[in-house]
Amino acid sequence: MGNLDGKSALVTGAGRGIGKEIARLMASEGASVVVNDLGTGLDGQGEDRSLAQQVAEEINGSGGTAVGNADSVADFEAAGRMVQTAVEQFGKIDIVVNVAGILRDRMIFNMTEEEFDAVAAVHLDGTFNTVRHASALMREQKSGRIINFSSTSAWGSPGQANYAAAKYGILGFTATLANSLDRYNVTANAILPYATTRMIDSTPRGQEFREQHGMLPSEAAAGTEGDPANVAPMVAYLATDAAQRVNGHFFGVRGHTISLYSHWEIAKVIRAETGWDLKTLSEVFKETMDDQLVPPDAVHVEGQERPLRETALQQSDPATWKTLAQGIELWERDAYFGAKR
Ligand SMILES: NC(=O)c1ccc[n+]([C@@H]2O[C@H](COP(=O)([O-])OP(=O)(O)OC[C@H]3O[C@@H](n4cnc5c(N)ncnc54)[C@H](O)[C@@H]3O)[C@@H](O)[C@H]2O)c1
Repeated sequence: MGNLDGKSALVTGAGRGIGKEIARLMASEGASVVVNDLGTGLDGQGEDRSLAQQVAEEINGSGGTAVGNADSVADFEAAGRMVQTAVEQFGKIDIVVNVAGILRDRMIFNMTEEEFDAVAAVHLDGTFNTVRHASALMREQKSGRIINFSSTSAWGSPGQANYAAAKYGILGFTATLANSLDRYNVTANAILPYATTRMIDSTPRGQEFREQHGMLPSEAAAGTEGDPANVAPMVAYLATDAAQRVNGHFFGVRGHTISLYSHWEIAKVIRAETGWDLKTLSEVFKETMDDQLVPPDAVHVEGQERPLRETALQQSDPATWKTLAQGIELWERDAYFGAKR
């Protein structure tokens, strides 16, 4: 008995990296999977249309059920065909996982319109495209699971204005899907992953690793915390019937650590009974807000000392971790959970 027996899933970008591991795990849990991948270079250029087919054959060879699809998620009609393939081959569409992605990093003052648009087209439009087609069918069948891929780069990664904008857009899109589709028993959640794939190979740290170890980080990832297979269980869990109540949430999945992000909350409010004049505002702002402003949580930037705030928080005091079972620990931010209980 698998946890996804009888389900039909579309996983985009499943020819390699994180998507491939999700497709494999979902198939091993009993889902029939449309493995989509255009087989592009990291920058979205070029195509290898055999990649999706290879993964599908691998899944079929190990007792699962899969079909390959080599279309681009950036093409609205093609995204419709991916969903249609699931319906034709497996009778319905229960799960859509939007993993396909590319990078075109460049500082904002050098970024071309084409570089901005290409990244937005795959991540943001690509996520809309599959969901638009699948959601109409999910609404009719009154069930469904949508899992979208965002990134901590959305918090403000220098050199990734295109990617960060798309990944932040995916969070707003996901929250809106959750509120639009809950009445049809369809859930939508987002994952902010980390895994040592070719996306990491391309970073300065990836290149440093290659110089030190004579291989790319992705080539050394199997069996380590950075193994993309570590992202798959949380995604598969969200697709199960057991996760029906989990809707509109954002989960960080990094190695063996799964984090629930709080939604945006107002941290402080100033109010003037008769409205603000600039002079009063600048005085009160300075007194109440200015001193406590911290820059947005950026992903780690080479040469910059400031550690990730959330990581610093979690590591600061081992006593704040609670042991739930042998080898299983929990860390909670009291202010958030305390207020919600
Ligand atoms: N690896 C990380 O640490 C990390 C961190 C944050 C977010 N992410 C996100 O997770 C997802 C998976 O990343 P990954 O590291 O596995 O990347 P990857 O490059 O290994 O895999 C992405 C796949 O998407 C495919 N693809 C690209 N454009 C496509 C298109 N138009 N249509 C169909 N397929 C297309 C590529 O061919 C590739 O196989 C991406 O959305 C990425 O932005 C990854």
